[in-house]
Amino acid sequence: MRKKIVAGNWKMNTTVSEGVALAKAVAEKAAGLNNGAGIIVAPPFTHLVSVAEALKGSKVGLSAQNCADHTKGAYTGEVAVDMLVDAGCAWTILGHSERRQYYGETDEKLVEKVRLALDGGLGVILCVGENLDEREAGRHFDVVKAQTENVLFNFSAEDMKKIVIAYEPVWAIGTGKTATAEQAEEIHAYIRKVLADHFGKKVAEDMTILYGGSCKPSNAKELFAQKDIDGGLIGGASLKADDFIGIALAF
Ligand code: 13P
Repeated sequence: MRKKIVAGNWKMNTTVSEGVALAKAVAEKAAGLNNGAGIIVAPPFTHLVSVAEALKGSKVGLSAQNCADHTKGAYTGEVAVDMLVDAGCAWTILGHSERRQYYGETDEKLVEKVRLALDGGLGVILCVGENLDEREAGRHFDVVKAQTENVLFNFSAEDMKKIVIAYEPVWAIGTGKTATAEQAEEIHAYIRKVLADHFGKKVAEDMTILYGGSCKPSNAKELFAQKDIDGGLIGGASLKADDFIGIALAF
C-alpha cells in the first residue's frame, strides 16, 4: 500500500522557540486529520530535540534535513545518523536541490548517505528534480532518470520500502511558479516506470512519490488528485501551521 505523506521542510528558518510553537500548532491541527495522510516536519538540527519533545504523543513524524556521510569522528560541523535517531528523528531528507547546488552534494555522496541513514534506522526522503535550463532544453526526463538510477539502483527492493522520493523541479522551488498538475504527473509516472523497469511493478506501485515546489493549499488538491502524486514536500507553506495542514487536507 502506497503511503500518502505531507512533509514540511523548514529549511533554515525559525528560532528554536518559534519552531517548538510551530510544531505544537502542527501537532494540534494534525490530530483532527483523518484522511490517512502521514505528516512529517523537518526543522533545523538545533531544533530537533525540543521539537521531538513537543511532538511526543502526536501523529507528526520528525525528520532531519540532511545527515553526515560518516558515522562519527573528526568531521567538524556534521551531524551523524545515530545522533539524529537519538534526537528523535525517524526520517532524513537527502539530496535536496539546495544541498546539490550550494554544497556540492553529488549522487555518489548520496549513495553513501542513503546507506548510512537506512543502516541507522532512518527513513529517507530523497529529492530529485531538474533545473530551469534542463527543463527548457527538454532534458527533464533524462535528468530525473539519472538522479533516480545513480542513487537508488544501488539499493535493494527491501530498502525501497524505507525510501520516499520527492520530485522537486528547481524552477518551482520558492518561486511561486508551481509545476502544473500535468507537468508533475508526467514526471511522477515516469519515475514510477523507471523504478518498475529495475525493481519490478510491485516496488514501483508501492513507492510514495511526493511533489515539491510552491505547493500550497490552493493548488494541492489538483496536484494530489493525480494518480502518481502521493503528497508533497512543502517549503514556504510549511512555516504556517494552517497552510501546512491545509495542504494535508487536500487529499
Ligand atoms: P517551496 O514550497 O518553498 O517552493 O519549497 C519546496 C521545497 O524545496 C521543499 O523541500
